[in-house]
Amino acid sequence: MLNRSGTWVAPGRVNLIGEHTDYNGGFCLPIALEHTTRARVRLRSDDEVRFRSTAGDRGGEYAVGVLAAFRAESYDVPGADISVDSDVPIGAGLSSSAALECAIALAINDLVGLGLPRTVLARIAQRAENEFVGAPTGILDQSASLLCTAGHALLLDCRDQSTEQVPFDPAASGLHLLVIDTRAHHQLTDGQYGDRRDECARAARALGLGSLRDAGAADLDLLGDDLLRRRARHVITENQRVLEVVVMLRAGRLGDIGPLLTASHASLRDDYEVSCPELDVAVAAALAAGARGARMTGGGFGGSAIALADSSAAVEEEVRAAFDRHGFAAPDVFEVRPGAGARREPGSTTLDERSGRTTARPTTGPPSTKGH
Ligand code: GLA
Repeated sequence: MLNRSGTWVAPGRVNLIGEHTDYNGGFCLPIALEHTTRARVRLRSDDEVRFRSTAGDRGGEYAVGVLAAFRAESYDVPGADISVDSDVPIGAGLSSSAALECAIALAINDLVGLGLPRTVLARIAQRAENEFVGAPTGILDQSASLLCTAGHALLLDCRDQSTEQVPFDPAASGLHLLVIDTRAHHQLTDGQYGDRRDECARAARALGLGSLRDAGAADLDLLGDDLLRRRARHVITENQRVLEVVVMLRAGRLGDIGPLLTASHASLRDDYEVSCPELDVAVAAALAAGARGARMTGGGFGGSAIALADSSAAVEEEVRAAFDRHGFAAPDVFEVRPGAGARREPGSTTLDERSGRTTARPTTGPPSTKGH
């Protein structure tokens, strides 16, 4: 009996900077978290998908969506028995859904022997989310989960999905990257995210461009509509900030990126209008406690903020006190390090295509398409 099963893990992410740029063909700079979703997957002899999770039925639609997305791309994939557990916080804006999609997409790719590159798997996982779950998200989260490597941030150019691994090691600079999960509502299917996408598409059309990626600061004066001008200004300046952060990281100046993170938050709050009181209080409190920079991360309207700080304790204490003063539920504050991308779990077995024997394969990391 051939072994057609194994275990794959895929991480959640935080985006360091480059927010709401992905669906505008722009730049993002995520890291993978050490928090992962683990999927044990066994191929079936029929077309059915059976899903079990330690979080109950939650996530079943993502599993079905990934299999459906492979089929919609004309890949001949059988059904699967999938059982899942995860330590990626759910609803915190840390891409728990992408982690689940990517673990399953990588499992199916390996078990069926499709040999697809990870950039294609990212698009299939995104398609699962867009078409089968109904969230009109970009390619950031799935790319981060599949393409990030430990110790690096991933510079992702969403125009062509090309990537560069950028060294990112806060500890080496005596710094800490903190996630502040505000526990505030986070739901990308509720319309506001889609509204932003539409506004960006309208702004690009008004400028006669295919996407805002191709717009520059000089174009802003050509936009008569104030709302569209502010949306476009966020995207244009955010792309610029991503590239400035990358230059600093490459120059060993991680400690200097703080003001760019904070400027990104102001732009998301004022021009793009996707922040919320909890995120603004988290950022203000982190800065008051001496953080070098802080910003919301992910889609916004709740979810998490990040802070780059010399002292985690000082930031955590001040954020907790500020939330208490505002009558907000207590936030969850924890430190993160750049983890590895999605991978097969060591010791997990699969069919060796050439010999037909069952073999153990080592964990393999994602390749870089542009080198270091
Ligand atoms: C969510 C989406 C991503 C991206 C971010 C904002 O996380 O899933 O595609 O658009 O919001 O940068």
